[in-house]
Amino acid sequence: MINSNTLRLKFLDFFRERKHTIIKSSSLIPDNDPTVLFTTAGMHPLVPYLLGAKHPGGVRLANVQKCVRTVDIENVGDATHCTFFEMLGNWSLGDYFKNESINWSYEFLTEVLQIDPKNLAVSVFEGDSDAPRDDISAKVWSDLGISKDRIFYLPKKNNWWGPAGATGPCGPDTEIFVIRQNIGCDDNCSPACDCGRYVEIWNNVFMEYNKDANGNYEALKQKNVDTGMGLERTVSMLNGCTSVYEIDIFKDVMNLLRENCSVQDEAIAIRGMRVIADHIRTTVFLLGDEKGVTPSNTDQGYILRRLIRRALRFARQLDMRSSILTDIAKIYIDVYKDIYKELYTNCERVIVELEKEVKRFESTLQQGLKEFEKLLKYIQNSRISGKAAFRLYDTFGFPIEMTQELASDNNVIVDMDGYENAFKEHQIKSQAGAEQKFKGGLADTGLQTARLHTATHLLLASLKKLLSQDISQKGSNITADRLRFDFNFSRPLSAIELQEIESMVNNAIDANVNITCEEMSLEDAKKVGATGVFESKYKEIVKVYTIPGYSKEICGGPHATNTKELGRFKILKEQSSSSGIRRIKAILE
Ligand code: ALA
Repeated sequence: MINSNTLRLKFLDFFRERKHTIIKSSSLIPDNDPTVLFTTAGMHPLVPYLLGAKHPGGVRLANVQKCVRTVDIENVGDATHCTFFEMLGNWSLGDYFKNESINWSYEFLTEVLQIDPKNLAVSVFEGDSDAPRDDISAKVWSDLGISKDRIFYLPKKNNWWGPAGATGPCGPDTEIFVIRQNIGCDDNCSPACDCGRYVEIWNNVFMEYNKDANGNYEALKQKNVDTGMGLERTVSMLNGCTSVYEIDIFKDVMNLLRENCSVQDEAIAIRGMRVIADHIRTTVFLLGDEKGVTPSNTDQGYILRRLIRRALRFARQLDMRSSILTDIAKIYIDVYKDIYKELYTNCERVIVELEKEVKRFESTLQQGLKEFEKLLKYIQNSRISGKAAFRLYDTFGFPIEMTQELASDNNVIVDMDGYENAFKEHQIKSQAGAEQKFKGGLADTGLQTARLHTATHLLLASLKKLLSQDISQKGSNITADRLRFDFNFSRPLSAIELQEIESMVNNAIDANVNITCEEMSLEDAKKVGATGVFESKYKEIVKVYTIPGYSKEICGGPHATNTKELGRFKILKEQSSSSGIRRIKAILE
């Protein structure tokens, strides 16, 4: 039996033996990318390197990456969907390409994991006006012994991956499937069919294109490989499980849920238990992340809030005590603590914040109940209008399923069509907002971000020089339009100080200084006096960016090449971020 840890180790060993540097999983909160809320794939943190920046780990990398995808949240509860998952990935940054990538995937699956080649099928890109048909990959598969009727040519919809945001690296892919005999249709269907016969386990993307803001695909200066294999799904498949929730990671959590579940209807019980198991796992990883998120009404915090509230709602539906959520969180911390040490380091925050949110939601429910009762007095024809149901949800955070349950207890019905319409209307409005945000972030991997990144280094250096050498970076977020920088300082800055900081940065810009980058060990970086922003993600070698005479920082880049590219630096705002932390928002004009 291969459990999740064995699979992680075997995967990393396999690629280590093939000269890949093993890199640490990045945070679930993407660096400097406003277009997406979470890290959704292993390639996400590697975008600058797929575009050509030099990675300190070299040209072959592999890792196990924490990922969160919430688009399918409504499907969680079925056999395969999870909002959090681990992705096993290997990358070539302009090094090997289709031949090695496919051969290694095949070798790993059939020799290390001992999957019978007879049960494998693959798909390749059929070609269109953007890129040619991928006969090369098909030939590699065929040379490996995969028969023609197991090689499917499919269109872009199926066999193209990326970009992760609105623009960036992408390309045709070849996907590997395990065939489940006797499930779904017969041999006449293809992996494009969703009958369940073909289970995708690995995706090899040949990232040789960059999608630009106009939707055009231009050739990248290097041909990359980006692969991704879902850990939970693969372990589940290797062990012949009927759902991912049967694998070792979930065992203790599912047992605890089962012991506490007294609902008779098995379908309801299973769905509810899986939703709770999934949502609390994601909650633990978000609260415990190195860039820890807490529940709020915006962005990542909002998703986290929804996950916790949804888990609690399902716990109520299954007649479980609310404290079961923290018991589950503790089990997960224990399950993962050796692999994701941040969960252990931040375990107190995980538990405290989860408990706080549960309490908050319980009081929301109380309030929602009062509103519901008021509503009952005014309704006509034993019918709650869609608008009223949506208002309960939108204003009081009262979930529609609760409204439906209470309505049925009181012999009234909810106009669900009306509710859906009100919901869609709201979604369209917020989508418009999200698209705006997308637009703002289009250049996120481009020059403007690099310039703002350099401006951030100059800002930190100036703050240290003017105010205190004890100042360090406590957070940074860069979009194509502006930078946001958090640092430790106990009081607001005066107008004069802000002006002084601005001119210090602008003087450095006017000095036309070349920015240099060197790779060295973390130890040497400390010796040469580089400022350490975050703990290094890469064990040994780090990049040190120097703006001679101004700043020396450990940083992943990318940066401008000369300060003169920056234009004019302007501070828009200085405010408190949290206790003892100040925040500066600034732009380059
Ligand atoms: N980035 C690719 C995926 O997520 C490997 O499927």
